[in-house]
Amino acid sequence: MEYASVRLETIGVIRSPHVDPAGMPIQPSAAVGVQGRIELDPRFEAGLRDIDGFSHLWLLYWLHQVKSSQLTVVPFLDRQEHGIFATRAPPRPNPIGLSLVRLMRREGNCLLVENLDVLDGTPLLDIKPYVPAFDSTSDARIGWFAGKLEDLGQARADARFAR
Ligand SMILES: C[S@@+](CC[C@H](N)C(=O)[O-])C[C@H]1O[C@@H](n2cnc3c(N)ncnc32)[C@H](O)[C@@H]1O
Repeated sequence: MEYASVRLETIGVIRSPHVDPAGMPIQPSAAVGVQGRIELDPRFEAGLRDIDGFSHLWLLYWLHQVKSSQLTVVPFLDRQEHGIFATRAPPRPNPIGLSLVRLMRREGNCLLVENLDVLDGTPLLDIKPYVPAFDSTSDARIGWFAGKLEDLGQARADARFAR
């Protein structure tokens, strides 16, 4: 069976204070208050119309510093190996990252955001508004993450997946 390949165009860049994957927070919920900006290519600026009405946005981006992909991985929050698709670890076959950030304000083609767990210079693929009725559920099971999240706020990444 053949699977299609796709061609993606980046729509902007994420500017953040994180310049080294080592020592970074590993999820937005561990990066509260970390501010940065989304610089959208001006060609896409009209797509920001009405964005100001949302407090939180999903960012989809390309984890451009990933050195290679792995199908199993020991993630930052565990010492056991897991399938890559059962983790949020970076070295995915398509290294797409997903972060929920807080929108502080829009300045033209730029969005000032906080709670960034993303490296400076990360290519942006998409922005979507966070809508609790779509994006939140009260009956989620969280697999191996159960019992691993108590110290998430203090947990930091290392450079194991980066080039
Ligand atoms: C565990 S991943 C989670 C990313 C996203 N929140 C997700 O769930 O898809 C976050 C880590 O990826 C690494 N990282 C962030 N930006 C990156 C980039 N552009 N390229 C490679 N690694 C990156 C950093 O080590 C950061 O701590």
